[in-house]
Amino acid sequence: MDLEKLLADRLAQAFSAMAGGPVDPVVRRSQHADYQSDAALALARRLGRPPRDIATEVLDRVELTDLCAAVEVSGPGFINLTVAEQALGTLLARMATDPRLGVAVSAAPQTVVVDYSAPNVAKEMHVGHLRSTVIGDAAVRLLEWLGHRVIKANHLGDWGTPFGMLIEHLLDLGESEAAHELSVGDLDSFYKAARAKFDADDAFKERARLRVVALQGGDELTLRLWRLLVAESEKYFLTVYDQLGVLLTEQDFYGESYYNDMLGPVTEELDGLGLLRNSGDAACVFPEGFTGRDGQPLPIIVRKRDGGYGYGATDLAAIRHRTRDLGATRLLYVVGLPQRQHFEMVYAVARHAGWLSPPAVAEHIGFGSILGSDGKMLRSRAGGSIKLVGLLDEAVTRAAELARQKNPDLPEAAIADVARAVGIGAIKYADLSTDRIKDYVFDWQRMLSLDGNTAPYLQYAHARIRSIFRRAGIGQITAASISIAHPAEHALALELVNFGTVVTGVEQTLEFHRLAGYLHTLAATFSGFYEHCPVLRAAGEVRDSRLALCDLTARVLHQGLYLLGITTPDRM
Ligand code: ARG
Repeated sequence: MDLEKLLADRLAQAFSAMAGGPVDPVVRRSQHADYQSDAALALARRLGRPPRDIATEVLDRVELTDLCAAVEVSGPGFINLTVAEQALGTLLARMATDPRLGVAVSAAPQTVVVDYSAPNVAKEMHVGHLRSTVIGDAAVRLLEWLGHRVIKANHLGDWGTPFGMLIEHLLDLGESEAAHELSVGDLDSFYKAARAKFDADDAFKERARLRVVALQGGDELTLRLWRLLVAESEKYFLTVYDQLGVLLTEQDFYGESYYNDMLGPVTEELDGLGLLRNSGDAACVFPEGFTGRDGQPLPIIVRKRDGGYGYGATDLAAIRHRTRDLGATRLLYVVGLPQRQHFEMVYAVARHAGWLSPPAVAEHIGFGSILGSDGKMLRSRAGGSIKLVGLLDEAVTRAAELARQKNPDLPEAAIADVARAVGIGAIKYADLSTDRIKDYVFDWQRMLSLDGNTAPYLQYAHARIRSIFRRAGIGQITAASISIAHPAEHALALELVNFGTVVTGVEQTLEFHRLAGYLHTLAATFSGFYEHCPVLRAAGEVRDSRLALCDLTARVLHQGLYLLGITTPDRM
């Protein structure tokens, strides 16, 4: 059903027969025809023959008459393919009757752990956590839809030395006051107040130090206070997740503390392998090939002399647990780019220790920063870190404004729904539609614009198609006979049949901007179709066929946006 793959498979056979070994036909969408294959150019040198000859011979050997209306060699040796209307019609008809829109579940389903969101207890989530949450959520949705077993791992920062000062501050405040501050999301002032005392007051500092020792020693009272901090923060994070409409739940909190019992055995195993070395006041591993600016090997701190374990030790334990106990073969870490080296070092050690061996792989799904309009890291007006909840509220308020302007007849209750879908959708889409490796500028105007590569544009395109059906009083589309004749239908058909190719591409790369870009092109191509091809005013089979194209477009937009975590109101 995947047209690009069908074409590629056929060409691959012909190329490979010629070259006497496997050849990637490098099939892609083309400006000059529907698809093109560039393989002859690369092969020319290997075979010592002119690329045009190779391309011509391939076309002699390949059987494409059922799929293509025209195939020709062009330029220095490209193969240009024009897809047959008949083939498009058949593919679309199949797609229309398939609830999965022609996208098959994976033939090799994996157990995938997605490590994402991961805010820190008693600390405000910052925009980096927002990016991780949004990208991770899309990864979970897409991989689950393709039939993988996905384990959501919210690697909450819920352990370590800061808890000494946090617990002491909690005691100073009194439990109920502290719980109140935390549960309403006043995490930043709580953390800062603790920090300020820690920095200014030696007696407090000493209390904090002793408290860390008590925490690590399993002191009951201390553990109870620690749990209180964690529980109140989790409650707050869950309200943010709820507001964001992401799939994370309280079952998905696998904080750093979850791995505490595994740290001892992990350390022993590393020691047994001869990987531990004492350096300064800690036992460390030095993975090969990582050096600092001074040329000295870089350590992962495993265990400090005071008995505490490092952030890296926990990540080592987590890898070992995920591959060994959970049976995962794909580990995704959706964490900002500044932690890239940390993860590369952790993976290197895990490989060395035998905790990450084929088929298991670990991938850092890194991302850049969100910038303000001044091109610097996004900050609040006062210069502090942005409160995420405030940001999300503002998105919804702005979207409500927009909805009222756009459609004054919409009842207030509907406005609230649309505002949430559009406001939250706009924030997510702004994030997912840019190459995640890059920084992007947070810009209300642009993300809420009704035209351009934005969520509102796509949501509006979807709602507009739904309104075609409403106006005509048509419920479910049943006629699935689709015939392509007009060039605008042809263009739309090509986009529609490409959905599966795009989704399975993103399954590998987790480059969601490719899915976003696809949906945007689809919506724009639909506009062209709708402008040139009357739908409701057409008659008979043409009308049915065009209605089926409309319906398919709406379904692909809906599903594609769903995979990005964005909802599609039927009316806007
Ligand atoms: N809590 C960390 C932070 O805020 C992110 C954790 C990422 N995941 C991990 N397995 N280390 O930076």
